[in-house]
Amino acid sequence: MCALNVRPMTTATASRIDRSFLRARMGSLLAVVPLGVWTVDHLWRNLAAFRGASAWQDEVTSHSHPLAFFLSSLLALVPLALHTVWGIGRLASARPNNVRYGTFANLKYAVQRLSAIGILLFLGAHLWLATLHPRFVEGHPEPFDDIANQMRHHGPTLTVYLLGTLGVAYHLANGLHSFAMGWGLVVSRRALRKLDGVAVAIFLALLAMSWSAIYALWAAGA
Ligand code: HEM
Repeated sequence: MCALNVRPMTTATASRIDRSFLRARMGSLLAVVPLGVWTVDHLWRNLAAFRGASAWQDEVTSHSHPLAFFLSSLLALVPLALHTVWGIGRLASARPNNVRYGTFANLKYAVQRLSAIGILLFLGAHLWLATLHPRFVEGHPEPFDDIANQMRHHGPTLTVYLLGTLGVAYHLANGLHSFAMGWGLVVSRRALRKLDGVAVAIFLALLAMSWSAIYALWAAGA
């Protein structure tokens, strides 16, 4: 007779699994709401660069009240910090095996993690140079003319913005794809195929928004 050797789970193990499941859900949810929503709003506002300095300044750097600046920063930075901590944990446990299994899904998995490292560096530099340094060292928000001039006359800045926003567009679009699967929003084979198309459309839309805003700043810096 065959007896199954299954040991009952202890309460401590069960609660550890509960906590890690909850952390995974929170890391995933925060990446979409509010972080993903905030990112799309930020890119959209930057398109005001097409309407000139004062429109851009109104949309991107001005706030009706100092408290509004503080709250909107909190809304973006706290989820970003939590997601980053969660993401670094996921990166540390990732074991890419793309050489052995060269599927498209596996490639997307590796690029999602590569883009995470890229945007970690990009967001660190962007946050310091475009928000913290102007506001807290120079005593004013980033002036339109400064960022437009940098974009036009400083090749490394232009390159970093083009690559950084490419990484953000990919990471968010592909992240929404895995979010929809992870939360069970899309399950059937047919729906999954459609989801691939939706992710590509989101990637292209985010990239178009980002690179259009960069182009508008570059043109204004002439
Ligand atoms: C603009 C900032 C960011 C946005 C909007 C964003 C968004 C997302 C989204 C929507 C997901 C999918 C979540 C899911 O599968 O349920 C994701 C996954 C991930 N993010 Fe981010 N993210 C950002 C920044 C970062 C940073 C700075 C890191 C740094 C480590 C990072 C690391 C990761 C990793 C490793 C994953 C894959 C997790 C997994 O599938 O196991 N993310 N991100």
